[in-house]
Amino acid sequence: MYENLNDNCTDAGIKAEGLGKRFGDFTALEDLDLVVPKGSVLGLLGHNGAGKTTTIRILTTLSVPSTGSATVAGYDVVKQGGEVRKRIGVAGQSATVDGLLTGRANLEMVGRLYGMSKREAAERADELLTRLGLTDAADKLVKEYSGGMRRRADLAATLVSTPPVLFLDEPTTGLDPASRNDLWDVLREQVSEGVTLLLTTQYLEEADRLADEIVVLDHGKVAAAGSPDQLKQRVGGDRIEITLADPADAGPAAEALAGFAENEVHSDPAASLVTAPVRAGTRLVEVVRSLDAAGIDVTDVHRRDATLDDVFLSITSAPKVEVHS
Ligand SMILES: Nc1ncnc2c1ncn2[C@@H]1O[C@H](COP(=O)(O)OP(=O)(O)OP(=O)(O)O)[C@@H](O)[C@H]1O
Ligand SMILES: [Mg+2]
Repeated sequence: MYENLNDNCTDAGIKAEGLGKRFGDFTALEDLDLVVPKGSVLGLLGHNGAGKTTTIRILTTLSVPSTGSATVAGYDVVKQGGEVRKRIGVAGQSATVDGLLTGRANLEMVGRLYGMSKREAAERADELLTRLGLTDAADKLVKEYSGGMRRRADLAATLVSTPPVLFLDEPTTGLDPASRNDLWDVLREQVSEGVTLLLTTQYLEEADRLADEIVVLDHGKVAAAGSPDQLKQRVGGDRIEITLADPADAGPAAEALAGFAENEVHSDPAASLVTAPVRAGTRLVEVVRSLDAAGIDVTDVHRRDATLDDVFLSITSAPKVEVHS
């Protein structure tokens, strides 16, 4: 139907070597290496300001790297920007569809821009509206859409041209859980058809469900990389999590748990929660006894597997907040 755009991407969907970006004296991204094989998903995680959008902007040719190089679908992002742009779909952090057009008109317009006939564009728009659950809203102006509907319309627009490589910057921010699940299904379907996907997200569950590989950025540097399972193993398997009757007990509870922990104990007094990665063989009853001996009243004690949240907490530092006096 269209030009074959999969010609040059037999090996890697996305590759980057030593990628960096400086803004004046400030280093937003440093020495990033990436290999995202065709048909796989890379999840880019990190606090606000970690460098996620900066990475996407470089890989989608919107920004020139200060150091290093990268290829997308086999083409150099700096020297062959035009070839790269033909092969990518991009959904940014803010909405890109036109509010003054209907959802359907937006998608038809994108199709026409990609050289489809009127009929092809209309058919593709129809198909995507159905796939993203926007059929009922298809003929409403996008400015009347809810936030979640807008995100879905954005994603639909990036899928019009069936690009082999997709970049999605926080695609499900603001979506309700059901819509998020629907969108994950659409993305999985794309990936099973051979699409390469790089997405950023603040939802660790999303990364866990979708990503084959995860890269965690911290202040522009890679803090950890690996599959979700590898990362979880790295922070230790089992956790004991206790819920305190009185959040003021967080300190003493953390001390009591330290005796069983093989790594740092994490306490979140606001949520009355204390979590410890425990040594293999630790028995729940011993933990309860020692809490009891310390006079700490708990409402819940349970054992659970490590999650990506634990990984994230253990490897990233909080974003720097500047305090001006
Ligand atoms: N054009 C620019 N000029 C100066 N600094 C910039 C510019 N663009 C980004 N930065 C800085 O680079 C850092 C990384 O920004 P980036 O947008 O990549 O973060 P992010 O990980 O996408 O964060 P968020 O989760 O908030 O979207 C931030 O400190 C940001 O202020
Ligand atoms: Mg961002």
